[in-house]
Amino acid sequence: MTQKIIFSGIQPSGNLHIGNYIGAIRQWVKLQDQMTDRDGNELIFCIVDLHAITVYQEPKILREKIKEVAALYVACGIDPQKAHIFVQSENPDHSCLAWIFDCIIPLGWMKRMTQFKDKSATQKDSTTVGLFNYPALMAADILLYDTTHVPVGEDQRQHIELTRDIAERFNKIFSPTFSLPRPMIDKSAPRIMSLQSPRSKMSKSDKDPGGTVNLLDPPEEIRNKIRRAVTDSGKEIRVGADKPALTNLLTIYAKFSGKSVKEIELMYQGKGYADFKNDLAEVVIAALKPIQQKYQALRQDSAGLEKILDDGRNFAGGKSAKKTKQVRTAVGLGRYTTRK
Ligand code: AMP
Ligand code: TRP
Repeated sequence: MTQKIIFSGIQPSGNLHIGNYIGAIRQWVKLQDQMTDRDGNELIFCIVDLHAITVYQEPKILREKIKEVAALYVACGIDPQKAHIFVQSENPDHSCLAWIFDCIIPLGWMKRMTQFKDKSATQKDSTTVGLFNYPALMAADILLYDTTHVPVGEDQRQHIELTRDIAERFNKIFSPTFSLPRPMIDKSAPRIMSLQSPRSKMSKSDKDPGGTVNLLDPPEEIRNKIRRAVTDSGKEIRVGADKPALTNLLTIYAKFSGKSVKEIELMYQGKGYADFKNDLAEVVIAALKPIQQKYQALRQDSAGLEKILDDGRNFAGGKSAKKTKQVRTAVGLGRYTTRK
């Protein structure tokens, strides 16, 4: 087997929700459980706070969310004995490399990024240069660690392709320095949609809190949100292109219960939405309970969480320092190849 170096990250820009869990963290845990460190495999999971500030974050809340996301990674099953967890801004190599990339990326490449086009269209007044440069920082995150695979959702594919282009361009202009990472997109991981507008994805930045089930929502709140979730016209409980709301609710039910959508459709044949929603709420509550318990325990042991993040930062810093030295030599920066 060849060596796999897996890197991924989530922004601490809000509450982690069941879409983040099903679409991202659960895949990471699966990968972790399939991998051994025998072949020099590495798993690195980052809390990308520098990406979060591309949109204004309340400072006190941001710092709290950083710890919350770290504890949730572990509560969801990331094992700090097997994976390295660290906070992006605690390793200055990321922003340094991002700047160097800014200086070699043709403007046209960045202008093509669809996520920027979408985000800047919806938040015209708050569109910053940082939001535009976001993909350069993401490329730096990935390329600093000789990452081979990047597990992300489909929406991030274009950023990984850009990362490969940046690596190739750097290698050609200067000298072979970076290896090319591949996106790892789990086709079986569905996009979870908002409970209030099932044609848009469940999102941390949704203005309507009723659309999002957060991993730390108390049971009563989960019941309320699911009870109030919009449904489609008709009475049948089945998936279909004409039934975006039910498709989403059935998908959530299936992912949290381990049952297939077909089985669930059969279970609710002839039954009403109320029964279905009540059961769905209980399924979600039961699945989140162990995560929430583990989370509480971790937050009570703040020294334990600090140690996980210190170890992660030390590992990441040690590894990225070697790459940064290569980069400084290749580009000819500074009087020294290493930071003094
Ligand atoms: P974000 O919340 O946009 O920072 O995304 C963090 C990770 O969660 C990415 O890998 C996304 O692809 C994934 N993700 C975010 N929202 C959803 C969703 N509604 N359904 C599935 N995956 C999601
Ligand atoms: N842009 C990613 C997202 O919004 C988060 C991210 C930042 C990331 N750096 C990364 C993901 C590096 C994978 C690898 O989901």
